[in-house]
Formats: sequence, structure tokens, C-alpha cells
Amino acid sequence: MPLLSVRMRASLKGKHVSGAERIVSEEDIPSTLCELLKRPGEHDFLKLTLERLEEVEEIAFDLSISSHKFKSVEEGREFALKELVRSGVPEWVAKKGIELLSKGANPKGGNMRGAVLLDVETGDRLEPDPGRGIRTVRVDWKDRSAVREVLLRRGFTDRTLDALAIALKNIHCGVLAELCWSDDPDYLTGYVSSRELGYVRITPLKEEGDHLGGRVYFIRRERVGELIRCLERRAVLISLSP
Ligand code: COA
Ligand code: AMP
Repeated sequence: MPLLSVRMRASLKGKHVSGAERIVSEEDIPSTLCELLKRPGEHDFLKLTLERLEEVEEIAFDLSISSHKFKSVEEGREFALKELVRSGVPEWVAKKGIELLSKGANPKGGNMRGAVLLDVETGDRLEPDPGRGIRTVRVDWKDRSAVREVLLRRGFTDRTLDALAIALKNIHCGVLAELCWSDDPDYLTGYVSSRELGYVRITPLKEEGDHLGGRVYFIRRERVGELIRCLERRAVLISLSP
């Protein structure tokens, strides 16, 4: 049965406020649209995109999840640094990634609209537009409600469900390690993820009220073109069991 990518984005006064996506069959389009339309809070613009997918790859949910709590942001970031190093990122490159997110990775100030691509060997930024960055798109869970139930039962949130999908696709495309914390000033949990360590949730990675956040993908320069195409274009469905 043909599958479609359904994407929603909403903004308020030109500022992005909400985004979500699904990969579903034609018969699930009406319920998916209803669900996505309920998601954004206050907005004055909303765009829906429906696109038939030629090819959809299926991958397994094969990452462990762990959670770590600390007394301060300094301790949380120190732990994130160690986890990045354990994933094979040189310490100075990992430090650069943390510094970029803490100061706002957009060279024009503030947040980016996607992720930084950081060369693990040279520490160079490789995203073609450093204000925009690269977004991981066209990814969803094969059986979203079953995975959601499992994660919520284990005390995780809808946010974890969506961030985990991005992290899984990233590793599948060849990202060596990822660092993320949200730009939401009330959400202080971030994560480091890699094939070696799994999905490592860390609280807090930022101070309450801080509007800065983002993602850094630590990558190898030789694969950058192929990697960007995979992150942006390849459709990936994640299944609970292989
Ligand atoms: N942050 C900030 N701005 C964003 C944005 C984001 N996440 N996504 C879209 N925009 C804005 C940008 O201005 C963008 O222009 P740009 O390409 O110059 O940056 C513009 O909207 C058009 O974006 P486009 O790439 O055409 O959007 P899209 O229709 O492909 O949708 C989303 C992308 C919204 C689905 C994606 O960004 C997103 O938020 N995904 C949800 C993440 C998620 O939870 N995935 C897991 C599902 S299991
Ligand atoms: P969020 O987890 O939604 O709070 O997003 C945190 C940051 O990650 C944003 O400020 C963007 O820089 C970046 N980002 C958001 N969506 C994506 C995506 N789909 N792929 C890569 N980076 C993203």
C-alpha cells in the first residue's frame, strides 16, 4: 500500500511555533490530519504538506534509553561531554558543540532552524547554511500508538517519542553522535545519542527560562553530501521489533 509523508508546521508573527510529521497510508490521512491540526498552540499560519513516497526504508528500534539527573547545568553538561567523548568525539570538538548550543548556534544570533553539522576531526561546521542548519525529516514510527504506550508506561513523554525517532534516523544515516537540548525555556532535559551509548537523557542541560537550544550532529566530512541527502530526503519507518 502506498505511503505518504504528512507534515505540519505552524508559525506566529513569522516565528516557527510547532512542527510534526507522520508517515501513513492513504486510509489514515483523515485521522492524521485531525491529530496534527490539534497540535499547535497559538498560531496565525499553518501549512500541511502531503507527499506520496516512492520508497520507505524500515529500521528497527534498537537503542537503549537511559536517564541521568544532576543538581546543576554544569554537572549535566560535564556528563554530556563525557558521553560524547565515550562515543568517539574528541574532547575539544565535543566542547565546541556544547559551547555552540549554549551561546546560540546561529551566527546571526539565537537559534537555528535545524542542526549544526560538526566535523569530528577538524571541528569545522559543515552545514551549507549555518543559520538554517540541516533538518531530519521523513521519519515516523511504524506502530506509533504501540511505541507510545511502551514509552509512556516507562515514564517517558511524547517529546521523547519524537526526539527518539529523529535520533534513530540520524544514527541510521551515519551521524556518529548527537547532542540536543530544546529551545523551549521550560524544558530542561536534553540528550546525547550514539550507536555506542544509546539514547542518554540528561537533566538539566540548560537553565529554566533559557530560550537557546539546538542540535549538533557530529559527523565525518567524507560522507557529508550523502548524509544530508539521507537526513532530509530518505523516508524511514521505525519498527518496535525487527
Ligand atoms: N524549526 C524552525 N523553523 C522551521 C522548522 C523547525 N523545526 N521546520 C520548518 N521551519 C520553517 C523554516 O522557516 C523553513 O524554512 P527553511 O527551510 O529556510 O528553514 C520553513 O518552515 C519551511 O520548512 P520545510 O522544511 O519546507 O517544512 P516541512 O513541511 O518539510 O516540515 C517539519 C518540516 C515541520 C515537519 C519538521 O521541521 C519538524 O518540526 N518535524 C517534527 C519533528 C519530529 O517530531 N519528528 C519525529 C516524528 S516521529
Ligand atoms: P526541539 O527539540 O523541537 O525543541 O528543537 C530544538 C532545536 O533542534 C531547534 O532549535 C532546532 O535548532 C533543531 N531542530 C528542530 N527540528 C529539527 C529537525 N527536524 N532536525 C534537526 N534539527 C531540528
